[in-house]
Amino acid sequence: MEKGALTDFFRSYLGKESLFLDKGALQPNYLPEKILHRGDQLKQLANILAPCLKLQKPSNLFCYGKTGTGKTATIRYLVNQLINTANKDKIPLMSIYVNCRLKRIADTEYRLIAQLTRELGKEIPITGLPTDEVYRVFFNTIDAENQFVLIILDEIDQLIKKTGDNIIYTLVRINEDLKNSQISLIGISNDLLFVDNLDPRVKSSLCGEDLVFPPYNALQIRDILSERAGRAFRADVIENGVIEKCSAYAAREHGDARRAIELLRVAAEISERDNLDQIRIDQIDRAEEKIEHDHVLDIIANQPKQFQLTLYSIISISSTSNGPVFTGEVYELYHQLCDRVNLRPLTQRRVSDIIAEQDMLGIINTKVLSKGRYGRTRDISLTINPSTLLSVKKILGEGLELS
Ligand SMILES: Nc1ncnc2c1ncn2[C@@H]1O[C@H](COP(=O)(O)OP(=O)(O)OP(=O)(O)O)[C@@H](O)[C@H]1O
Ligand SMILES: [Mg+2]
Repeated sequence: MEKGALTDFFRSYLGKESLFLDKGALQPNYLPEKILHRGDQLKQLANILAPCLKLQKPSNLFCYGKTGTGKTATIRYLVNQLINTANKDKIPLMSIYVNCRLKRIADTEYRLIAQLTRELGKEIPITGLPTDEVYRVFFNTIDAENQFVLIILDEIDQLIKKTGDNIIYTLVRINEDLKNSQISLIGISNDLLFVDNLDPRVKSSLCGEDLVFPPYNALQIRDILSERAGRAFRADVIENGVIEKCSAYAAREHGDARRAIELLRVAAEISERDNLDQIRIDQIDRAEEKIEHDHVLDIIANQPKQFQLTLYSIISISSTSNGPVFTGEVYELYHQLCDRVNLRPLTQRRVSDIIAEQDMLGIINTKVLSKGRYGRTRDISLTINPSTLLSVKKILGEGLELS
């Protein structure tokens, strides 16, 4: 662009009113001011946790439900209300919230306990102390005052995957030695199978009570989304039907409110970039494509080269043949490509494991077949839509220096 044209562009950009009033209301960490359609859960939570206000220990609590069903939002909302009430009456109740998905915060027992201690206001080095010592500092910090501490471990399945489940048991048992204070745990998870795999001893200590968050239906998502849109956008910038379509899309697999909010946010961003003064229904399909695209790239970016080359091979074969792709042919091509990029080829068995992992991540679908030229093989199809696929292949090719 010429200098003059650029100036004009910036001027018109500055002169244009944004579609957004408060974009923060659509960000993932936004804490809603109203929780809709979770009356039952709020009531149960309130009943279970109210004894804290009298410094009587409530049962530990375990909340589960699929992603985007409002677990984090509902619990944080309720605990905030509880703490507000306590503060007004000078009741020594406090809460600590940790999201265990965050790297470097909850990927080892040391780091989690150190983080909990920091949340209590005590500095602790990032490494260097023996784990026992970290526990001791944590214990002393809590017990230094007469108080009640609610510990919320969000995405607790991630923690246990990394540290093992004994940490829960140890935390719960701390109560037996505390003299002045007490703790209670709230665990949150979207992995429903994770509880079944817990050691029974840990399970009974964690799951004093459990609370289920069922998926929302499209109408419930519509209400949540309208409420949020009212805060996020200027009046009249949403075409009729947009909220309904986002809600319907988000309810297709299971009612996922996060997905609906993200769809609307991305559709609005696309509309702004296109200089439209309204978010139109047809932007939602584009938004969905963009979200899928970014999601697939996110997954791929963090994977080793072997994973990337295997996926590249699958995409290459599927773009030249119409039917399903077989593991044997994927391995053949993968092997050839390994030579080209100077990668030591893995065995066919390992590549099969990688393919199974890609299936688990949802980027491909596989069906096991028992016959075929290669013995037991799988029939693979891609779940990524065709336009995303092209750009994924290009990006993979560039990263692997194949193109
Ligand atoms: N009942 C609700 N009322 C208002 N907003 C909600 C409600 N349920 C969910 N949301 C919003 O939808 C998004 C997803 O909700 P939340 O993060 O609580 O889901 P989650 O169950 O914790 O999902 P995950 O298991 O993936 O962590 C958030 O932006 C949240 O504010
Ligand atoms: Mg959550």
